[in-house]
Amino acid sequence: MTAPVPLIAGNWKMNGLRASLVEAAAIAEGAAGSPARVAICPPAVLIHQMSEMLAGSGVLVGGQDVHWEDAGAFTGDVSAQMLADVGAKLVILGHSERRSGHRETDEIVARKVAAALRAGLEPIVCVGETLEERNAGQASPVVTDQVRGSLPAALTGQPFSVAYEPVWAIGSGLTPSTAEIEEMHQAIRATLAERFGPAAQAVPILYGGSVKPSNAAEILHAAQVGGALVGGASLKAADFLAIVRALQA
Ligand code: PGA
Repeated sequence: MTAPVPLIAGNWKMNGLRASLVEAAAIAEGAAGSPARVAICPPAVLIHQMSEMLAGSGVLVGGQDVHWEDAGAFTGDVSAQMLADVGAKLVILGHSERRSGHRETDEIVARKVAAALRAGLEPIVCVGETLEERNAGQASPVVTDQVRGSLPAALTGQPFSVAYEPVWAIGSGLTPSTAEIEEMHQAIRATLAERFGPAAQAVPILYGGSVKPSNAAEILHAAQVGGALVGGASLKAADFLAIVRALQA
């Protein structure tokens, strides 16, 4: 089983107005020819315009969340079908800011993953331990439980990725050591193998949490790391492109 094509995805979170689309255009121009799949996940209201702008560029556009139902009386929510309808190809699900700020449990994340699959979106399923959990020696069991609980039965061969994002590394400037990243990615790979057998080797396992131009090469070349989920450093084309290029460093 060959290694997956790396995926480098930018998570703009609740940042960006229409004026920020120039950054996406610059990312598309600079990422041309990259051996990685490159994606930008902007706020939902920018997806339509961005996906039209980037059509044919090779850079994919994704969402940051969906409701678990396809349609209905859910004021303020956006469905997976709606994201796909305006051009999204991927969607980040179970980000720790959703798990903690919106009380999303593994069960909710799994339902959202199932909704994304029904709409033909490729889910990026996020997992990660808190600092308390890491300090208590629980990082690996916490994260592997999240992996087991967040992948629905409906996931049977469709493309998806897992993003390992330690909560304490997100937006903090702190990152685990390369050995710690490798250990966690190996544990996630083994958990995926329990469920998918040899096909688990084809699932990209991304690292996320304070990835920046200065640490990207080391992280992206760590064993079992199949790409990156990048927050703050994805907002500026120059920084994001430096991370994309670090894959070939
Ligand atoms: P960060 O965010 O790169 O700003 O730490 C990563 C993420 O939350 O996906």
